[in-house]
Amino acid sequence: MNTTSAKHVVLGVTGSIAAYKACEIASTLTKAGVKVTPVMTHSAKQLVGPATFEGLTGNRVISDMVESEQNANIDHIALAKSADLFLVAPATANIVGKAANGIADDWLTTALLATQAPILFAPAMNTNMYTHTAVQKNIDLLMQRGCQFIGPAAGLLACKTDGPGRMVEPEEIVDAVWSILGRSDDLKGKHILLTTGANHEPIDPVRYIGNRSSGKMGFAIAQEALARGAEVTVITGPADVAPPAKAKVIQVETAQEMSNAVMVHMDEADVVIGAAAVADYRVAQPATQKHKRSTQSLSIELCENPDIIGTVGAQKRPEQLVIGFAAETNDLIAHAEEKLNKKNLDLIVANKVGTSNSGFGAETTDARFLFRDGTIEEHPVLPKRSLADHLMNHIVALLSKTAKTSVTH
Ligand code: PMT
Repeated sequence: MNTTSAKHVVLGVTGSIAAYKACEIASTLTKAGVKVTPVMTHSAKQLVGPATFEGLTGNRVISDMVESEQNANIDHIALAKSADLFLVAPATANIVGKAANGIADDWLTTALLATQAPILFAPAMNTNMYTHTAVQKNIDLLMQRGCQFIGPAAGLLACKTDGPGRMVEPEEIVDAVWSILGRSDDLKGKHILLTTGANHEPIDPVRYIGNRSSGKMGFAIAQEALARGAEVTVITGPADVAPPAKAKVIQVETAQEMSNAVMVHMDEADVVIGAAAVADYRVAQPATQKHKRSTQSLSIELCENPDIIGTVGAQKRPEQLVIGFAAETNDLIAHAEEKLNKKNLDLIVANKVGTSNSGFGAETTDARFLFRDGTIEEHPVLPKRSLADHLMNHIVALLSKTAKTSVTH
């Protein structure tokens, strides 16, 4: 049962240029079944119209400028009492200062004082403001009272200064919300093993054959599984992004190393997912010394690597789920169907690669799910985290189906 469906988050939006990112937060939480009540300060409304938040959440925006009769029935004490979490994103220096010093001159600051719910701030401001001793003192005060902070990130800000102050990405904020709210625990007690990232197959001590996998898809899956209470083991080749902190991470380089690690850990897993771009071939005899440049061409003999997910599929327990990916540039469905059956998978994610919005290194993916019964589930281009969320929903459903089947046998 998704425990977040009964949850209520009050989303305070203040007047930072990052206010537009709060729309994605509102949308993601709403889609996950959370009730989101947007509260906007006057300056926030100059940056993003309330109608946007009302459309995304289905709830009226609370703001000082709303006509008094509309405000009359919105009791900030009741609002404060009904919230499971106050999220202030973006959080300007102004709101941080008011909250730290007990100022209550608008709905948001009044409700922040009245609530007993956890409070999470996502700061967004100029670097010099963020590092100012007054702001740092306010943050310390709020943290001493149990308020939590996510970010800010460092980098180039809208005001062209470079340093801490940029609001972290909506995904990270939503993750922090889940960890406070305790997302649906529909994968609690389940162990998910997945491969992700690329392989480096040595040519000589200096050179290797690699691919463009960044690890983003696999780590998005790991994050979603963790958010649902699963135990997650990630076997990762070289990747461009860091793995989720709460996952057990096993770093490998070659396909053979990846295969060895999967074989060691597969028995303890309820679900095995092959998201890695596994090298199909390795150099038969890698040189022990660097190949010297010569005028002749250099021929290198390659030999086959083990089919990792295919091996798992061949050996899987009846109640174990095995899920693969198909990375295709053409004939997506046909190629994916062939792999689904040949590798004895329960489900394959057929994703386009080689385009800017899908595949290696992309933030989004153009993918569909193929099932053993022939069902194909289409999806529009989605952020990889969103696709991972859909994948988790199917894993929950498939696990309960296999559990029922194994009981009746
Ligand atoms: O990491 P990103 O930059 O986010 O990119 C994500 C991705 C494109 C790498 C990912 O979404 C993806 O498609 N991963 C699978 C890539 C791949 O190797 O696809 P394939 O069609 O060649 O292989 C089919 C399946 O067999 C995959 O589950 C693969 O992990 C597995 N395989 C392949 C070869 C091999 N020797 N062993 C395997 O286990």
